[in-house]
Amino acid sequence: MAILVTGGLGYIGSHTVVELLNNNFDVVIVDDLSNSERFILNNIEEIAGKKPVFYPFDLKRKELLTQVFDAHQIDGCINFAASKAVGESQIMPVDYYENNLFSLINILQEFKRREISNFIFSSSCTVYGQADVMPIDENTPLKMPESVYGKTKQMGEEILKDFANAYKRKVSLLRYFNPIGAHPSAKLGELPIGVPNNLVPYVMQTAAGIREKLSIWGNDYDTEDGTPIRDYIYVVDLAKAHVAALKKLMADNEEKTVIDIYNLGTGKGSSVLDVVNAFEIANDVKVAYQICDRREGDITIAYANVDKAEKELNWKSETSLQEALKTVWEWQKYLNSRNSN
Ligand code: NAD
Ligand code: WQD
Repeated sequence: MAILVTGGLGYIGSHTVVELLNNNFDVVIVDDLSNSERFILNNIEEIAGKKPVFYPFDLKRKELLTQVFDAHQIDGCINFAASKAVGESQIMPVDYYENNLFSLINILQEFKRREISNFIFSSSCTVYGQADVMPIDENTPLKMPESVYGKTKQMGEEILKDFANAYKRKVSLLRYFNPIGAHPSAKLGELPIGVPNNLVPYVMQTAAGIREKLSIWGNDYDTEDGTPIRDYIYVVDLAKAHVAALKKLMADNEEKTVIDIYNLGTGKGSSVLDVVNAFEIANDVKVAYQICDRREGDITIAYANVDKAEKELNWKSETSLQEALKTVWEWQKYLNSRNSN
């Protein structure tokens, strides 16, 4: 019995594969390397002491996916594979709908046909938009996201609810807040392909001198220091939540519909300036920045109520912002050493 991890060489996927291997799951990865690199597979093996099975192909290639299901007894899936750049999704909507939804549907066709249950989906706090009340719990009304990327997440959730209801299957929709950080070994992290869109990779590259200055997108928001507030969750803590969610689904062998929904965050909000300061203190480095106009589509504040995950998964985030940001800097040093070899 094995768990299919799509996008298992990506940022969150690779950390989760390590946790799955540490928990004695057999892992089969499908990743087309569109946003990762092969050395991540070797590093997973180095960290976990075991090598997952790896297939390098695009999940839209249905016939290859069928062969994976023929070759392995798949007992569940964690589906990380998706395109995730919000700005890019606005200029390439058809490609985003195709990649994020066709790959999901191709896996579900195999699940349906082979009567497999246990599906975990990477959703996002983006499905809440700017919520009216903080912290955001799972009953907070969803708002149709502005970005195509966000819409693919909301549509993915709806597809999975219909799947679970119609075929009596178990699914878990995990709404991540803002994942940050790298593995303590410094051998896994967020790969900076192109100019980073997200805050922490940009901070990291600015401190490393790869970028001249961080642009802070607005300091006129209605928050204490004027910069927007988010809930930054350490990626290893997040990875552990996947194992907990999977174990919960698998503990129940009965054929029935289960739709679990969990917010995965820390429950604590931090502003952009908090992140910059914490990075400087944690790593004893300077981050040059300038205040710019607001970025279109940004919300003011989002942080999670994580009581449900704590209660039902017996999980909570354990790592502070500063500790997480320390691992980011170690990861940058590792990338520097790779580049200089
Ligand atoms: P990532 O880009 O690092 O990982 C995704 C992996 O999937 C990559 O390795 C990529 O090569 C692979 N992939 C993409 N399309 C594929 C396809 N058609 N076939 C095979 N492989 C494919 O992204 P991540 O940050 O690890 O995010 C993982 C999931 O979590 C995504 O679904 C993302 O939307 C979701 N998510 C991410 C964040 C975040 O801020 N990182 C927040 C909320 C939700
Ligand atoms: C955080 C804060 C920016 C970069 C995005 C997606 C969302 C989800 C998480 C996947 C904001 C500010 C950023 C920079 C800055 N992903 N910032 N200068 O916007 O919360 O959400 O990632 O599901 O869908 O939209 O994260 O890291 O881009 O930004 O000032 O160069 O940092 O304005 O306030 P965000 P982020």
